[in-house]
Amino acid sequence: MAGRVEGKVALITGAAEGIGAASARALGAEGAKLVLTDINDNGVKSLAAELERDGAAAIGLRHDVSDEAGWESVMAATLSRFGRLDVLVNNAGIAFVGPTAETSLADWRRMLAVNLDGVFLGTKYAIRAMAGEGGSIINVSSILGIDGAATAAAYCASKGGVRLFTKSVALECGEAGNGIRVNSIHPGYIHTSMFDSDVAAFGSLEAKMKKVSALHPIGRIGQPAEIAAGVVFLASDESSFMTGSELVIDGGYTAR
Ligand code: NAI
Repeated sequence: MAGRVEGKVALITGAAEGIGAASARALGAEGAKLVLTDINDNGVKSLAAELERDGAAAIGLRHDVSDEAGWESVMAATLSRFGRLDVLVNNAGIAFVGPTAETSLADWRRMLAVNLDGVFLGTKYAIRAMAGEGGSIINVSSILGIDGAATAAAYCASKGGVRLFTKSVALECGEAGNGIRVNSIHPGYIHTSMFDSDVAAFGSLEAKMKKVSALHPIGRIGQPAEIAAGVVFLASDESSFMTGSELVIDGGYTAR
């Protein structure tokens, strides 16, 4: 039986670990050909090798999503290896928390450069690469692109920006009639390095897990594979009537 994304070429940023790696595994298992990019060169190359051993076609490339020239080379490498691009998952992102009055302009700019410039640049070059063929662009925003959060103003600004950027480009692609669908995904808290790395405000990882789990009506935080399931759906033709939409996968966090 053919996979749900059989033969589609999918480029995933920030694919060395976390939600990006889970999305790569899920798309590969459903028949996609994969271009995995990350600033973590070794991580992304060893994941590509693992997926190739499992029977998927995959390449891993070093890539900083905030660098425009990097996008040009990644797209050239994608077209050279696979001849087309059907799916872009703009997943790479960074997070930090801190009082706004203590946030440096350099930190603010770095947050927007990776989380928002990266999504803009990826979308720009994906629209060009998908020209004439259509495709699916999936932008990983957050529940914090919908709701605000104290001491996370820079992150919320970046993820809120991704949400409306997505809708605007979806409208533009609709008007252009180019067959490109553009949607955002809004994960609740997910157990990745991003979650584990920032525990200072909670005292310990255990305390953070307890407190943050309670914010989700389902009673726990999510796992990367639970977001990857949404990525596969938006990448596949099962979501053919969805564009400009926001897929919330958050254990009920935003239902309050
Ligand atoms: P993670 O920290 O586990 O993995 C992020 C990956 O992105 C890493 O492999 C890292 O090397 C890569 N990366 C960082 N900066 C990069 C850059 N400039 N260019 C290319 N790659 C870069 O993070 P996680 O949790 O998997 O997050 C993935 C996406 O999901 C992010 O956009 C994040 O904001 C979003 N998200 C995560 C949530 C969570 O609770 N973990 C909740 C909601 C959204």
